[in-house]
Amino acid sequence: MYDFSADPTLSKAENYASLCDAAVALVAGETDRVANMANIAALLWDFLPHVNWTGFYRLIDDTLVLGPFQGRPACIRIAIGEGVCGTAISSKETQLVADVHAFPGHIACDATTQSELVVPVWRSGVVCGVIDLDSPTKGRFDREDAAGIEKLARALDGFV
Ligand code: SME
Repeated sequence: MYDFSADPTLSKAENYASLCDAAVALVAGETDRVANMANIAALLWDFLPHVNWTGFYRLIDDTLVLGPFQGRPACIRIAIGEGVCGTAISSKETQLVADVHAFPGHIACDATTQSELVVPVWRSGVVCGVIDLDSPTKGRFDREDAAGIEKLARALDGFV
């Protein structure tokens, strides 16, 4: 049975390390990428406080296409270079956005979203999508969150 939660006595980095262990345990031995992304989206939803969307966009034929997620229904296709997610793909870099209203071209899927963290996902050195986290709180994500989700993305290489 799945049983994992953040430990308030641990540091953020330690909790992200535990999250990665839990994620690897969830995907180990499973080759179906959709099933793995669905479980990771649910794990992130369960683990992270103050989020209103956790999920994946997959890079398919030069377009980001909505993948498994938790939260409200979202836009389905995002062009490379568009929005926060498309910028993460074109730059191949994490996008840490403290205030989405200050990000030119931000795509609003939920009007309550205030901040966002988007991390590229890699498959054998090739970017294959993103992990996208949204929050209704401004400045919800910091460098430690970015480092934690980047570590998660590395651990998921080949599984999603
Ligand atoms: N805000 C994103 C779009 C995806 S939703 O947040 C789920 C963006 O600007 O790319």
